[in-house]
Amino acid sequence: MGHRTSKDPFVITSPFYFTVCQVGAEKALKEEMARIAPGLRFSFSRPGFVTFKLLEGEADGTWAPGSVFARAWGVSLGKGAEVAPLVQGLHARANGGLRLHVWERDQHLPGDEPPDFEQGPAAEALEARLRRDFPGVFLEGSQAREGDLVFDAVLIEREGPDHPAEIWWGWHVHTRAHSAFPGGRPPLELPELAPSRAWLKLEEMMHWTGSPLRAGDRALEVGSAPGGVSYAMLERGLSVIGIDPAKMDPVCLGNPRFKHIAEAANAVRRERLPEEIHWILLDMNVKPDVSLFAVDRLVSRAGPALLGVLLTVKLNDWKYAREIPHMIAHVKAMGLKNVRAAQLASHRREIAIAGFTRRGQMRLGGRIAQE
Ligand SMILES: C[S@@+](CC[C@H](N)C(=O)[O-])C[C@H]1O[C@@H](n2cnc3c(N)ncnc32)[C@H](O)[C@@H]1O
Repeated sequence: MGHRTSKDPFVITSPFYFTVCQVGAEKALKEEMARIAPGLRFSFSRPGFVTFKLLEGEADGTWAPGSVFARAWGVSLGKGAEVAPLVQGLHARANGGLRLHVWERDQHLPGDEPPDFEQGPAAEALEARLRRDFPGVFLEGSQAREGDLVFDAVLIEREGPDHPAEIWWGWHVHTRAHSAFPGGRPPLELPELAPSRAWLKLEEMMHWTGSPLRAGDRALEVGSAPGGVSYAMLERGLSVIGIDPAKMDPVCLGNPRFKHIAEAANAVRRERLPEEIHWILLDMNVKPDVSLFAVDRLVSRAGPALLGVLLTVKLNDWKYAREIPHMIAHVKAMGLKNVRAAQLASHRREIAIAGFTRRGQMRLGGRIAQE
């Protein structure tokens, strides 16, 4: 879809795509796109928002770039254009209603926001305005379902005393490759008791991978202190073994389903680990190859109960971004399937890599493409 024919004046066409990424990841995203999408040329960039022009033809609303750094994307309709014909044109194409995604471009890395910074109200006001101006056009709620036609409104710059708001428009067809949420950011709120922001990373990984962790599973987490990820898993009913020489938060230590091994990963002897481990998680502040070799060692020792790995790999230096295809190949070489990498909205300079055993794939069933 998305191609103009003279008979169909309502098809909204454009030769541009927009992408959304973490602040600071724009260059890595451009480099990645030059490699994976040679038919596109970089066009425009602001922190957290990058557009590309198709060298030939028109953009397709079902396009999926297969990018690690783009957490949302769609056909870009540019900024400032009169919005009514765009909304009406897309609405005429949508069966039963248009999904509305409104969000504000990221301005800070997660955790770097100034104390008085609020992400949300400006986008909420824009969404309210659009819903008021186009009654009956947009579906209720913003969580997209497969096949939805989504109208994207990106607040690039908030209105200031001497300038109006800068808004870019776009659209996409929601598929499983997309995040269901505006701008690729699931609505998550860090619980007060969470020992660290890493709680958000685990919860976001659950959205991204189709929620593979279940109550009763046993997870091994390497680099577990102070305990945001462990706390999220304990709250979900898992048993957790945390390996980290650093201190764990009492909220984890006090939970009977948590066991702390206060050692460095490579010092932990096999006898200290249970026979049955379902998940290996890792989040160490070390170089990617050090992390991956630690995972490799643990996967080779894990028994047949293993369902998969959920890793957070640090890109302390942006040069590691170019190594991501090798990292994926390394995880595949551990015998894992459906290995994917993504930079998620809660990430700082890091990415998630997930991979599953056959058993893990079976549990996920139709929620991931089989390999
Ligand atoms: C980003 S923090 C982990 C955050 C944690 N996952 C959470 O949920 O709060 C990185 C951790 O890696 C740990 N670490 C670094 N090298 C390690 C090693 N060789 N073995 C185990 N842990 C290690 C550090 O002590 C630090 O606590």
